[in-house]
Amino acid sequence: MKPVDIPAQPGTGPTEHAHPDRTRRSLLKAAMAGAALSVPMAGCATPSGTRWQGPPALGFKSIAPVAEDSVRVPEGYRVQVLNAWGDPIGSPLGAPAFRQDASNSADEQMLQSGMHHDAIEYFPLPYGSADSSSRSRRALLAINHEYTDDGLLHPGGMEPWTAEKVAKSQAAHGVSIIEVAATADGWAVVTPSRHARRITPRTPMTLSGPAAGAPALRTSYDSSGTRVRGTLNNCAGGYTPWGTYLTCEENWNLYFNGGASPVPEALRRYGVNAKSAYRWHEHDARFDLSQEPNEANRFGWVVEIDPYEPDSVPVKRTALGRFKHEGAMLAVAPDRRLAWYMGDDEIFQYVYKFVTRDPYNPRDRAANRNLMDHGTLYVARFNEGGRGEWIELVHGRNGLTRENGFADQADVLIRTREAAERVGATPMDRPEWGAVHPATLEVYMTMTNNPVRGTPGRPGPDAANPRARNVFGHILRWREAGRDPKATRFDWDIFALAGDPKAADAVQRGNVKGDSYGSPDGLWFDPSGNLWIQTDVSTNNLHRGDYQSMGNNQMLVADVTTGETRRFLTGPNGSEVTGCVMSPDGRTLFVNIQHPGEPAGERSNPARPKAVSSWPDGTAGGRPRSATLAIRRIDGGLIGT
Ligand code: FEO
Ligand code: CA
Ligand code: CA
Ligand code: CA
Repeated sequence: MKPVDIPAQPGTGPTEHAHPDRTRRSLLKAAMAGAALSVPMAGCATPSGTRWQGPPALGFKSIAPVAEDSVRVPEGYRVQVLNAWGDPIGSPLGAPAFRQDASNSADEQMLQSGMHHDAIEYFPLPYGSADSSSRSRRALLAINHEYTDDGLLHPGGMEPWTAEKVAKSQAAHGVSIIEVAATADGWAVVTPSRHARRITPRTPMTLSGPAAGAPALRTSYDSSGTRVRGTLNNCAGGYTPWGTYLTCEENWNLYFNGGASPVPEALRRYGVNAKSAYRWHEHDARFDLSQEPNEANRFGWVVEIDPYEPDSVPVKRTALGRFKHEGAMLAVAPDRRLAWYMGDDEIFQYVYKFVTRDPYNPRDRAANRNLMDHGTLYVARFNEGGRGEWIELVHGRNGLTRENGFADQADVLIRTREAAERVGATPMDRPEWGAVHPATLEVYMTMTNNPVRGTPGRPGPDAANPRARNVFGHILRWREAGRDPKATRFDWDIFALAGDPKAADAVQRGNVKGDSYGSPDGLWFDPSGNLWIQTDVSTNNLHRGDYQSMGNNQMLVADVTTGETRRFLTGPNGSEVTGCVMSPDGRTLFVNIQHPGEPAGERSNPARPKAVSSWPDGTAGGRPRSATLAIRRIDGGLIGT
């Protein structure tokens, strides 16, 4: 493997791989002054090798909130549907065409894009190239497929429920690696590509780190507790500086069937129920806890995938803890040690950080292979007065002892939620995505909503979750002490309270400057320091508060120095806008649209009701499909500026 240029060296400042359009020195200084921060000596590496080169500047006319069955973007932009559920991924093994009646087999689905696109990351080809323009012409995209709507996935929905349907449902979960190339008319999926690959709940993987091999991870298939089949409910994601993809297992609990005996407390804490929503256990015994009581412990992790090596075996990194992982957002410390910020997306759950024990080696990719296995997991406590602290989740410290029911470090990691509660972490309003500012290293994280905070029997508002019945959500921001991602103290504030600024109820009233929104979920900084926000207003929430005036789920951009926020995109009916990423030249924005048509394609419904969406195909009576978009400016300019 060649030495890596991903990212530019920490400590060299934001000049390497500078795109000329983004190098605006005088404005940079002004922007930094606006943020009341100075330029740190470390940076936020992106897998594309791009670094922050200038100040944010919103240069497009915002669009109105709308509710229609199409994607809207600002004037001067165009949208291409690049890769939808069922489209061939370009596998050398075959390229079966998508059939609108959902009659593709499980084997065909293995060669096609999965359902319900979520996180996306961009990995330039060729690997290690220092040339920004070549890095922006050809790449691998890693795309999460969070879950399936089995009402859409099979002809006749879930009736009858068969082993073939379980196999197809599993094949539509996981991750796609696709190769894409820029052409004269947009982007195209390269077919065939030796890199094209599906990773599913059946793909062989290993478990590594402190919990690997623990008795609680052993099953009849794997007496070593180190070999797992697959990953599922892959929600948000992340990356490493050596060009690997991190995919995060979120609502894994829903796939396991507890059955007649009481669900053990350790699994109940993660929401495992007597009945599995997905019904895989009826045809796949490992999802039946009465037959495989430990299989559920093998999910809920962050999984590292090498997109450049199609034969590589993905690795579940247990050192980062086990919960409903939303994403893992990287910050590089001045000494090249790495921090990943992570949310556990459920009401009253916690915010975490993992810091590596060792620095990463930018010159030897292989030397970083086990870097994520050694380090410290922390959980956040947000104190009054804008101060916060990271509390170590280390066996033997902070009450995580044998006397208190934690046998060893593996136990602390497998039961992360219980450990976090024990050390007094702050229960939050559903932590979803985070994003690390490419220059200031300030961390932003969405608290998507928590309509039950402050209701009888539930915790009330606190400083960092200030609203009872928080239907609209908020975005928190923190700065580590000394601007060092390894710090154990930080200052925090609230970047934005989402919601209608005109709401009569002061508790629910938002304070967003510019275009308002609700239920912020996705979050991503582009290389120029603009913050992209994706919303996930659930169908339940649509009927609360003033959501109806906000239109369909959408994506906005915030200038974090002024707080000004503008609406950039609205999604088709029933959809959620999930992951986004740009090509390194800043001229293409890739965005995922998830679950268009929800709730009309209800997963268990045998007689699928009339869909509220037929996007993107527009086929009457056809199936709406999640998809990756490629968005460019008609004049070829920089996105968002
Ligand atoms: Fe998969 Fe928390 O969103
Ligand atoms: Ca999410
Ligand atoms: Ca969400
Ligand atoms: Ca969602």
